Amino acid sequence: MTMNQISPHPVRILPSLLAADFANLGPDAKRALDAGAYGLHADIMDGQFVPPITYGADVVKAIINVTGAWVDAHLMIEDPDKQVLAFASAGAKAITIHAEATPHLHRVLGMIRDAGCEAGVALNPATPVTATLQHVMPLLDRVLIMTVNPGWGGQKFIHEGLGKVSEVAQLLRSFNSMARLQVDGGVTPDNAAELIRHGADELVAGSAIYRGDVEANIAAFQKQIDSVQLA
Ligand code: DX5
Ligand code: ZN
Repeated sequence: MTMNQISPHPVRILPSLLAADFANLGPDAKRALDAGAYGLHADIMDGQFVPPITYGADVVKAIINVTGAWVDAHLMIEDPDKQVLAFASAGAKAITIHAEATPHLHRVLGMIRDAGCEAGVALNPATPVTATLQHVMPLLDRVLIMTVNPGWGGQKFIHEGLGKVSEVAQLLRSFNSMARLQVDGGVTPDNAAELIRHGADELVAGSAIYRGDVEANIAAFQKQIDSVQLA
């Protein structure tokens, strides 16, 4: 018998703009927000930590200016300390850095908090949970469990991620932490309920939202959320 892992927070849907039309970012962002998304997930890639390059703080600022959205910047970049202030000034409310991208996790999380943003740590599929997070727990507002290898949208969900989500949920509970637990990569309405039951409370989705009908896709996610949280 596994204990109830469901988060104390209401579950949020966060569309990843990586799957939007880059020539139409403002309207694509607004469409998802109007359909009920809580905010927007901005995937920042530098061509170093991961091979692709996406966009930077100026683009995030422009999207915030036109939508007024709550934006979560997922920095898939080396040396994130050099970029944190730019994303905070751009208006991102949450900044998540990769544990694998800096030897100075504790310091950079402190920088993010000092800049007035929520501080998050993302873990690649091969990165252990407890060993990586236990000494920075008081600095965490968010843990992001990658359920694909970062760098590209549209990949297949890595099932082992579910166990990591449970492990984070237990760790947060044991520290009495109210940090958010985000999952990113291959998240769809088909695995949403299972992820929430394991403790996820922020569902990031790119292709499952922007492929096809955005309104219908967000409604399909909301139905799964309600089936668990209202049960
Ligand atoms: C992957 C990014 C994800 C990506 C998810 O490196 O961090 O946010 O956009 O895309 P899907 O939902 O298509 O797997
Ligand atoms: Zn992401």
